[in-house]
Amino acid sequence: VGVPLISGMGGSSSTGELLPSRLPLPRPYTLPFRVPPVLRPTSTDGAADRYEIVQRTAVAEILPGVRTEIWGYNGIFPGPTIVSTSGRRTIVTHRNRLPAPVVVHLHGGRTPPEHDGYPTDLVYPEGASGHHMAGAGHTAMSGDVSMGRRDYVYPLRQPAATLWYHDHRMDFTGPGVWRGLAGFHIVHDRHELSLGLPGGDRDMPIAIMDRSFAEDGGLRYPSLDPTLTHTPGVRSPYGPGVLGDVILVNGVPWPLAPVPAVRHRLRLLNASNARRYRLVLDPPPPGGNAFVQVGTDGGLLSRPIPHDALEMAPAQRFDVVVDFGRYRPGQYVTVRNEWGDGTTADVMRFHVTARADDRSRVPDVLTAAVPLREKDAVVTRRFEFRHDTVRGMPGWTINGRAFSPTDSIMSPKLGTTEIWRLLSDFHHPIHVHLSHFQVLSRGLGGPGPYDHGPKDTVDLRPGEQMAVLVRFDDYAGRYVMHCHNLEHEDMGMMATFTTVR
Ligand code: C2O
Ligand code: CU
Repeated sequence: VGVPLISGMGGSSSTGELLPSRLPLPRPYTLPFRVPPVLRPTSTDGAADRYEIVQRTAVAEILPGVRTEIWGYNGIFPGPTIVSTSGRRTIVTHRNRLPAPVVVHLHGGRTPPEHDGYPTDLVYPEGASGHHMAGAGHTAMSGDVSMGRRDYVYPLRQPAATLWYHDHRMDFTGPGVWRGLAGFHIVHDRHELSLGLPGGDRDMPIAIMDRSFAEDGGLRYPSLDPTLTHTPGVRSPYGPGVLGDVILVNGVPWPLAPVPAVRHRLRLLNASNARRYRLVLDPPPPGGNAFVQVGTDGGLLSRPIPHDALEMAPAQRFDVVVDFGRYRPGQYVTVRNEWGDGTTADVMRFHVTARADDRSRVPDVLTAAVPLREKDAVVTRRFEFRHDTVRGMPGWTINGRAFSPTDSIMSPKLGTTEIWRLLSDFHHPIHVHLSHFQVLSRGLGGPGPYDHGPKDTVDLRPGEQMAVLVRFDDYAGRYVMHCHNLEHEDMGMMATFTTVR
């Protein structure tokens, strides 16, 4: 393989460096759980649903009694949830009232290239002065720059899935998301709605992220913190990835959620910059198999898969059904992170209230989608993800190259299947735009327990090799693939590819 085999590197300490908070933290499981508000369309007609989002700074109370400045979609963190119907055009107008340029990417969306949020397709702040534009000169060569606002058009010709949207500005995605630029975008389709899975209040989006707080209540992050200076050439500004000691669920530290003793669908999203989680229910339900997985990044699995634990790398989604009817009313059920320590071992808690009517079900067959076949592959490509020197500084590369917005490294042909072999020296959640992966193998074996279904992000582990199938359809143009450890992405671990007809 050419990289050392390191085993047992599941723990959180291996994916980044912990930045401790400098404020007293609340006791876990005291603050109420909430879900982000669903955004209402500004108009809807035969052709499209239109939405408008203003990106702005706001002061949020995340820790009780503490004022924290965030960057929020409509001033909230996480942003509002957009709910779309598969195949119905969704147009989102983003206005930028932040003090910096932004880029919006719909993660998991099958989106034409001009709307996908290429990292240099910057949206400058409203009323940006000539001073701002001076810095735009070099990116204007490679990016499609807009002033103040931009309409993102999403055809959403794809099956039901839990997608999310977030900032994607070249070199600044880590701090942008850390400050709050992330939200859910859920796609439903008729087939999924006919399955009888738990719906309404019993379908809960759950975004998990770690954060750290400074003395003044602000979000603590290396490049935002004047007390953390780095020595050029000695170490990178972000190290291997940034980890916080506060676990937020939908923006609330370690919340408590009352739930009736019935089945719930939990749409789990790991929206953390670098942290990986291994989630379990404590106590486990009698007989085990706490989580019945029904879907993943790109939509439904063909059949449900029961799990005792869920391992989630950054950007991954696990759509699971938990039957709280297996617990006694009055019981507390805690979601714990077995890869955390101290405060990061706690995630959230459910309080099982009373029995209630439950007509939901989990059918044995979820979708009849036809898998890709290895024998159809026409190209095999190899990608090595490594720690490296980038412009004289420690950084991260793909096949020895750091991201450049003017170089495309490959031109996959639309409608053909490819095999990608992925190799790494560290934990890298590898993400591809426009399409998704189907995992063929991990190490010497087949797909791991968490590799099933359409993945747009795979959990590549130190010293391990993975093989995945990928096939691009519909849209020709410029896209990126990258590591979704956002500090790695910002430090070079991203590449442009161009799909061609
Ligand atoms: Cu979630 Cu290219 O990103
Ligand atoms: Cu990485």
